[in-house]
Amino acid sequence: MTRIRPFHGDDTEAVVALWRDAGLVVPWNDPYRDIERKLTVQPELFLVAEHEASVVGTAMVGYDGHRGWVNYLAVDEARRGTGLGRALMHEAERLLAERGCPKLNLQVRSTNAGVIEWYRTLGYEPDDAVSLGKRLIPDTAP
Ligand SMILES: CC(C)(COP(=O)(O)OP(=O)(O)OC[C@H]1O[C@@H](n2cnc3c(N)ncnc32)[C@H](O)[C@@H]1OP(=O)(O)O)[C@@H](O)C(=O)NCCC(=O)NCCS
Repeated sequence: MTRIRPFHGDDTEAVVALWRDAGLVVPWNDPYRDIERKLTVQPELFLVAEHEASVVGTAMVGYDGHRGWVNYLAVDEARRGTGLGRALMHEAERLLAERGCPKLNLQVRSTNAGVIEWYRTLGYEPDDAVSLGKRLIPDTAP
């Protein structure tokens, strides 16, 4: 049985390996620092899907008081197409709605545009907005 639960510290290596396999680790983000930072802000919204004691999916969810966000959505390649990605997004939506969050936003890297069609099947639409960012703390992925 697969269950979705909050992240525990001893999931770290499995989670980073899953993110690397899923192509989500980029040189400008250190995944270990990303995990450490998330554990200081709404750690209960950092979701892990576990199947027979193995980490098979993740979703890093947050609510900033105006919008909800999902980062690091990933499913183990061997388990894709079984509804787990959808289940992680539904759990993210449920937890955010429970907190009074009116809208969920997420960003898709331009190099990963193929996944936009998948998000559309879940009811997500591109917003008429350009995403801007400014790095405040430099990281380098190990
Ligand atoms: C995106 C991702 C999380 C989806 O996880 P998943 O567990 O395979 O998703 P689900 O099983 O819930 O959904 C699969 C369904 O979507 C469909 N689907 C998959 N890719 C699709 C696409 N590009 N466009 C439209 N539908 C797609 C499948 O056919 C399947 O449909 P079915 O249930 O009718 O058979 C997974 O592919 C992944 O980890 N990708 C790499 C990391 C990534 O890109 N994350 C998003 C960062 S923004």
